Amino acid sequence: MTIVDMAEVLSALAQLDIDAVRAYEQAIGAVGQGGIRESLTRFRDDHKRHIEHLSAVIRALDAAPPEYTPEFKGFLIEGFTAIQNLLGTEGALIGMGNNEELTNRKYVEAYEMNLSPNIKELVGHNYHDEQIHLKYLRETLASRAWEK
Ligand SMILES: [Fe+2]
Repeated sequence: MTIVDMAEVLSALAQLDIDAVRAYEQAIGAVGQGGIRESLTRFRDDHKRHIEHLSAVIRALDAAPPEYTPEFKGFLIEGFTAIQNLLGTEGALIGMGNNEELTNRKYVEAYEMNLSPNIKELVGHNYHDEQIHLKYLRETLASRAWEK
């Protein structure tokens, strides 16, 4: 795999992590206080860390990482948040479950590529976080933990 190809793969992952941070911010706004909110906040922070680490490697490969502005709060995002508030905790968890299915699929695809060893290690580490996120969302939805 060429350096340019690797930078492209990592940029696509970083963009996915950026989208995940935004989605988690909406979901956090839709769930009440408590353990679920704390878990979603931790997962959002995992994605923020992925963005930082991926961006550093992309720059080291002499490419530009996707733009990420944490303060971004557009009209559309606020509209989505209002919709998610109507859906409540279950709707937010279903939405995040779908998002995490995608991030897991994309991370495993990247991990199976012919990456250099240090990049493979980073992708594998992030993928491990993604598996934890998806497992939590599936289990929480199955047990309907927010009703207890
Ligand atoms: Fe995740």
